[in-house]
Amino acid sequence: MRTVGDLRALRACVRAWKQEGRRVGFVPTMGNLHAGHFSLIELARRQADRVVASVFVNPTQFGPGEDFERYPRTLAEDSVGLVEHNCDLLFAPAVETMYPFGSGHALRIHVPDVGDALEGEHRAGHFDGVATVVAKLFAMVEPDVAVFGQKDWQQLLVVRRLVRELALPLEIIAGPIVREADGLAMSSRNRYLDAQQRAHAPALHAALEWMRESFVEGHALGAIEGAAKRRLERAGFVPDYAVVRRAEDLAVPDEGERSGLMALVAARLGGTRLIDNLFFDLP
Ligand code: PAJ
Repeated sequence: MRTVGDLRALRACVRAWKQEGRRVGFVPTMGNLHAGHFSLIELARRQADRVVASVFVNPTQFGPGEDFERYPRTLAEDSVGLVEHNCDLLFAPAVETMYPFGSGHALRIHVPDVGDALEGEHRAGHFDGVATVVAKLFAMVEPDVAVFGQKDWQQLLVVRRLVRELALPLEIIAGPIVREADGLAMSSRNRYLDAQQRAHAPALHAALEWMRESFVEGHALGAIEGAAKRRLERAGFVPDYAVVRRAEDLAVPDEGERSGLMALVAARLGGTRLIDNLFFDLP
């Protein structure tokens, strides 16, 4: 695996592959890679002849008071894991490469509608930062296919909207959520949890499963959402939201709507904010 930080080397490598007729897959990350990230590398490998991963902790998607400074930066370990998973090229740019005018003076792309709800409400500006850096990464890497995790379902919708509206010539593929044995979705932020918080953390996924069961039993959405929040509070979380939405656009479902729905939750456990979601594949 080659590791490059500058654009010229990145472009030379990817363009040489394309000239050979290779299909190039891309997995953008912020590093501190875990099995969830590696599952996306494997998915990209099945979709493409060459796989590029990026590691860049993107300052513009963190709000004031969020964890940008303490976000785990583990490039040496990430690099070993990427080699083990057959990644061909690691792009690890400096902030100046991504933001030549400085991250405080960057162009910003706002994705309305699907970017405004839920995470968009609770983390103002977050998806502007995501959409902007993802558009830049796509312009730099020029992949044929890019892979994103369903763990960040709303992010996936934002990226799909970005690609469609800018008519970017690439395909977006989604990979399923990889979980720990006790149901906790893998996340780089799980490492912020102390032992006691880690023991309580699976309650987030349990709340999603409870929401799905209650929905199958025919309970009203408003009641399910309220009760899910209370369950999370009893488990020691401070919930931002626990909702049932239409998966394709995050719209509030009509009464009686039964298909294409999912539950989404975001909640803080101590200083750590976790998100998770679950499709309602109804019997
Ligand atoms: P990061 O949180 O590092 O996640 C990189 C990719 O891994 C995302 O597509 C995310 O959905 C996926 N992922 C994370 N945990 C996962 C899990 N448990 N199972 C499956 N996939 C998982 O998301 C970002 O970085 C950034 O916002 C980025 C897109 C790189 C832009 O900066």
